[in-house]
Amino acid sequence: MQGFELGRDFLMGTATAALQIEGGDRNNNWYRWCELGKIKDGSHCLRANDHYNRVEEDIALMRAMHNDTYRLGLEWSRIEPAPGQWSREGLDHYRRELELLLDAGITPLVTLHHFSHPLWFEDMGGWENRRSPEIFRRYTRTVVENLGDLIRDWITINEPNVYAMGSFLTGEWPPGKKSIPAYFRVLRNMVLGHILAYREIHAVRSARNFPCPTRVGVANHIRVFDPEDNALARGAARRLDYLFHTIVVRGMAEGKLSFPLGTGGCPLGKGFYMDFFGLNYYSRDIVAFSWKNPGMLFARLKTDPELPKNDLGWDIYPEGLYRICKEYYAKYKVPIYITENGICDADDDQRPRYICDHLEQVARLRREGIPVERYYHWTLMDNFEWTEGESARFGLIHCNFETQERTLRNSARLYGEICKAKAVTPEMAAKYLGA
Ligand code: FCB
Repeated sequence: MQGFELGRDFLMGTATAALQIEGGDRNNNWYRWCELGKIKDGSHCLRANDHYNRVEEDIALMRAMHNDTYRLGLEWSRIEPAPGQWSREGLDHYRRELELLLDAGITPLVTLHHFSHPLWFEDMGGWENRRSPEIFRRYTRTVVENLGDLIRDWITINEPNVYAMGSFLTGEWPPGKKSIPAYFRVLRNMVLGHILAYREIHAVRSARNFPCPTRVGVANHIRVFDPEDNALARGAARRLDYLFHTIVVRGMAEGKLSFPLGTGGCPLGKGFYMDFFGLNYYSRDIVAFSWKNPGMLFARLKTDPELPKNDLGWDIYPEGLYRICKEYYAKYKVPIYITENGICDADDDQRPRYICDHLEQVARLRREGIPVERYYHWTLMDNFEWTEGESARFGLIHCNFETQERTLRNSARLYGEICKAKAVTPEMAAKYLGA
């Protein structure tokens, strides 16, 4: 690799989610899912990385990697343990964490909903309940009133499409429902919840004269769906793209509920509700046509035998990052934050190359004038990876879950050097990639 520059104004860091690292919370939907024995390796989110008690230690690791910014999630159940009841302890905990980050010179980007929420919310049907957007708005308001002076950058909801699919279509995630109408109901409510939260964040922050600017977005999970070379496969790929990406992003960005989320109207009014385009990018699928898969819109997803795979068998396809950024920038013309990008790679023999290859695409986009402003690597350290539990290892830093010892992998050292230089130099390539 020849090396490339990212630019001094490019911000870099890591991303995490509260449920995946904090441990110790028994009042959320994933706690119950673990209790029901749904985690493949038998591990439990109660343990995770014990980050709740190790905030300082983990911020020191971010500093050691020269991170400018950090994407963290708030655990809703710690803030609103019962409907309309606010926990001082929970809010104070996050205030302290945010202050420590700011003292360390690290800009927080805060996610309000990242797959987990309180049990009382789950028990009223969660995002399927028609009151859910309003309930999410109320939670958002309390967070902004109490912590909003410390947070300029917000993600309302992480990967609404992945959440709705895992929780309401395939049933692999809590509450384990398998229903197509429920999938669309949930997406619709998440769209409405996002818009209410977007407005609330801007309104409260500006009414209180909190430091500007305020930026609010969504972490969109976008994949590349490349069809096999025939008309039926092309049709299947188009339908998947429409139902998995387009209707969700359009709803969240424009407030427009396209079929089947609605009939094309904007129930909360026309507007634009994304100050940046958050992109979680991991992989691509080849789409084949199959009569056997009506539930998947007659699509069968395949991997590409030519491409390298991560530990979970996902194709590694850096060019996809470039293609998606181009496509969505052409549509929405707002700055792009790569809010997640990373690899499951326990022995760390592919991660250094993965990082460089994906950042090379970012450098290419920036050279072409596409404003990719930030990159958050998923993830800081090995953590509780939903139903995969502790065995899927996405961390720059290795975690021994028994002892909670954190050890920098080679890729963490490389990432630290890149964050510091805002470039990949030929020396780094030679040292870490052997090329
Ligand atoms: C994303 C999730 C994140 C993590 C990574 C591997 O879909 O947002 O929490 O699970 O995948």
